[in-house]
Amino acid sequence: MDSLKPLLDEIVADLRARTDKGRVADYIPQLAKVSADKFAIAVAPLSGPVVTAGDADEPFSIQSISKLFTLTLALGQIGDRVWDRVGREPSGNAFNSIVQLEHEQGRPRNPFVNAGAIAVTDIILGGHRPKEAIGEILRFVRFLANDDAINIDRLVAQSEQAHGDRNMALAHFMRSFGVIQHPPAEVLGVYFHQCAIAMNCRQLAQAGLFLAANGRNPLTGFNVVSSPRARRINALMMTCGHYDGAGDFAFRVGLPGKSGVGGGILAIVPNRAVVAVWAPGLDANGNSLLGTAALELLVQRTGWSVF
Ligand code: DON
Repeated sequence: MDSLKPLLDEIVADLRARTDKGRVADYIPQLAKVSADKFAIAVAPLSGPVVTAGDADEPFSIQSISKLFTLTLALGQIGDRVWDRVGREPSGNAFNSIVQLEHEQGRPRNPFVNAGAIAVTDIILGGHRPKEAIGEILRFVRFLANDDAINIDRLVAQSEQAHGDRNMALAHFMRSFGVIQHPPAEVLGVYFHQCAIAMNCRQLAQAGLFLAANGRNPLTGFNVVSSPRARRINALMMTCGHYDGAGDFAFRVGLPGKSGVGGGILAIVPNRAVVAVWAPGLDANGNSLLGTAALELLVQRTGWSVF
């Protein structure tokens, strides 16, 4: 992997020079303060040190990438009963869309659109108090990344809470169908905090390693999930991880990936490595514009696509 460093430096130089950086998310005001000039990439191989370039040690808001970790946690808690509450099909709609819920008995299409992720958080809430559920999610992410220095950015959580009408509407709508069992304010309190987890690219790449290694985290030796479950989570990332941009991401990058409106993308190269990128400017679907371009370049140069 030593030969990767010059390639990552090249990718950073190429992308930093681009003038169209996309638009930083502003519907969560605290995120709008982040500079569109930030750029980072980290590659965690299955063995050996993480290779990085750019601002890879600077934490950013993982936002919807957290949905991957909460899905894994919920599957660990109640197994395949998760699929009684949430589907496994791409939505072809925006991440925060409500339209399909009305025609589909309030059951979200998949665990990565906001509605689906809120339903997954409702599962994790279980019989806990919201604070306990937040603690459990944070501990799980630290365990996956093998790094206790990961924290929640409370200003981001508060900022989203103050502008969370759309998510609140999704939660109330689902509760009217019995898909959500807890009071929406409690579920959303947990959801906003999971989205506000701040990680750098190095930590994020490490947290994804279990998905590249058939469910076993090579850093710690722990079996996080079974091999079939890792395969299925990867399949969901490929088909649903980028919302209505999932097809384009598969076409251009060809890796299971999960994006967040903080500008991060976590991409899995099965049996080889995990790549985390961060570029805060987004495309029209709410996915990182330059992050996707960076992954496209990396895959072109390494041949790492699964196709
Ligand atoms: O619920 C929201 O709108 C945000 N906390 C997360 C959305 C998100 O990251 C969508 N991904 N690209």
